[in-house]
Amino acid sequence: MPAPIPSQRHLFDIPADIAWLNCAYMGPLPRAAVAAGERANRAKANPWTIGPADFFSAAEEARGLFARLIGAMADDIAIVPSASYGMETAALNLAARPGSRILLLEEEFPSNVYPWRELAARSGARIDTVARPGDDDWTAAVLAAIGPDVAIAALGHNHWTDGGLIDLERVGEALRAVGASLAVDATQSLGALPLDIRRVRPDFLVTAAYKWLLGPYSLGFLYVDPKHHGGRPLEQGWIARAGSENFAGLVDYRDDYQPGARRFDMGERANFLTMPQAIAALRQILDWGVADIQTTLAAATAGIAARASTMGLGSVPGALRAGHFLGLRFPGGVPDGLGQRLAAEKIFISVRGSAMRVTPHVYNTAADIERFLDALARAL
Ligand SMILES: Cc1ncc(COP(=O)(O)O)c(C=O)c1O
Repeated sequence: MPAPIPSQRHLFDIPADIAWLNCAYMGPLPRAAVAAGERANRAKANPWTIGPADFFSAAEEARGLFARLIGAMADDIAIVPSASYGMETAALNLAARPGSRILLLEEEFPSNVYPWRELAARSGARIDTVARPGDDDWTAAVLAAIGPDVAIAALGHNHWTDGGLIDLERVGEALRAVGASLAVDATQSLGALPLDIRRVRPDFLVTAAYKWLLGPYSLGFLYVDPKHHGGRPLEQGWIARAGSENFAGLVDYRDDYQPGARRFDMGERANFLTMPQAIAALRQILDWGVADIQTTLAAATAGIAARASTMGLGSVPGALRAGHFLGLRFPGGVPDGLGQRLAAEKIFISVRGSAMRVTPHVYNTAADIERFLDALARAL
């Protein structure tokens, strides 16, 4: 049974007077990841301590840890710099017939829009944007949009503006039934909302590491279904080729690649600074457990939503919302300057679309949340 996690503030370098309720914008590095980064920085100052094996070992460890998080195999994971890179890889490797539809959500994050617009332009497919449903039931809206002419759906696990949940298992099944592909941008959920790749069965799933994975910027992970392991990578770098471990033989150019999804790795994926940080953060998340993180954050956001509703603010109903992600709705829109007024009191949230995102994590305390609610009540 998932259990709530007591505040883990001691594992983070967040001063007591900062209420960071903005993980959807950026997750803080845990202290363990900061320490790993400091060790990594020192190693780069002493390059004789970095051997050829180090170009492979940390990347393999990170691949394995990320795979554990989603129930995949390390072989299925590529290392990428961003969600946009992962989605571009997906768009390069998924087919769309002329006249077919590519399903996107209204007000989707642009990294999950532009690659599909480009694919539509070069294939003759068209983008079909699923409108935000009046009853907040994205799953029903997406299921209703799926038909035999759908080629691809590119979706998050929850909407990035207000946490509206998409049941990826049901949507994935419906897409498979019409022979369509599924690409997932899990940047706003992975690490905080459980996802089992064996049940969702996406073709591609990408996540940037700097939000809910509490990792560094400029790093992400791309799950690639084995049926696409023979696909086309965005780059033709040396390390993704077979035999790249043998530095002396690098000029014996090879046409074959490293096994599995490694062919999709970005250039310089052996980042000596960010990779150890990501490993420390992934270990920390696996140690807490994603189900327990979700239980903890769902209780926190439910409490905030209930108090906010007494102030006349709405949100996606609990059953249709990812527990870690709350978007507060104000009658008449988010008041101008409200975010800045809260920031002046060292309380941090973000406004996206028509919602104020309140996105806590296990480093928050009850006092952070009380301060936020108190400041919100005063500001209205
Ligand atoms: C849903 C979603 N995807 C992706 C990103 C980041 O995209 P990228 O890694 O391409 O910069 C964000 C950032 O806010 C996001 O909210």
